[in-house]
Amino acid sequence: MIEVEWWEYDSLDELADAVAGDVGFIIESAIDARGSSLIAVPGGSTGPAIFPKLAKQSLPWKKLTIVPTDDRLVPMDDERSNIRGIAKTFLPLGARVVPIAADIQDPKLAGNSADARLQDLPWPPDLVWLGMGSDGHTASIFAGPDMQDALDAPKARRAVGVTPDPMPADMPVPRVTLTRAAILSARTVTITITGQQKRDLLEQAIADGQSSKLPIGRVLAEAEQPIDIHWCP
Ligand code: 6PG
Repeated sequence: MIEVEWWEYDSLDELADAVAGDVGFIIESAIDARGSSLIAVPGGSTGPAIFPKLAKQSLPWKKLTIVPTDDRLVPMDDERSNIRGIAKTFLPLGARVVPIAADIQDPKLAGNSADARLQDLPWPPDLVWLGMGSDGHTASIFAGPDMQDALDAPKARRAVGVTPDPMPADMPVPRVTLTRAAILSARTVTITITGQQKRDLLEQAIADGQSSKLPIGRVLAEAEQPIDIHWCP
């Protein structure tokens, strides 16, 4: 059974303060223990709305490496790119920001390139921070013909390319994503979501576990570590 802890807040601002504090503590503890830290952060809007509060903390930024949990196969300066927002916020602080989406349109090849970049990093991540879409996707593990590749990739595989099917109406582009194995290799996995619809969907996905039809349910079903879920209405 997946072990989850729900943390509830009255507003996104309150949630952001708490999550920024938690992430800062994870980074600091990792650097104290091992001299460096690697974290993977989400795209979308909820996660990035929290980045500025994390950036305000006084942390040993030069000892931190940040990767996106996933990215769209678009140019890095495209507003749809996840790495664009991460770099804008954390590069000026001295953090090392590593893109995973190369300028390759073929999702399979892009997935191989993303995996190669991640293979060069000290593993496992101290934190994989996930969002969840209203369709139950997480990172860029979407329902469709590529979902099984992302779920069943071997332990050593850190990223794959994905073409969601159906394509999300708001972002109809192929992507690269951390695999389930890479997500669950993290020392800590945390999820940030907002709204009752997503809360109900995530609770159902957790209850359904391996039999969930939702990507996030299938990812979490294999979790061995406790999962922190931060939620506000
Ligand atoms: C992406 C994300 C994705 C995101 C969810 C939640 O590239 O879209 O990484 O997994 O975290 O879609 O997005 P919101 O927080 O905007 O709802």
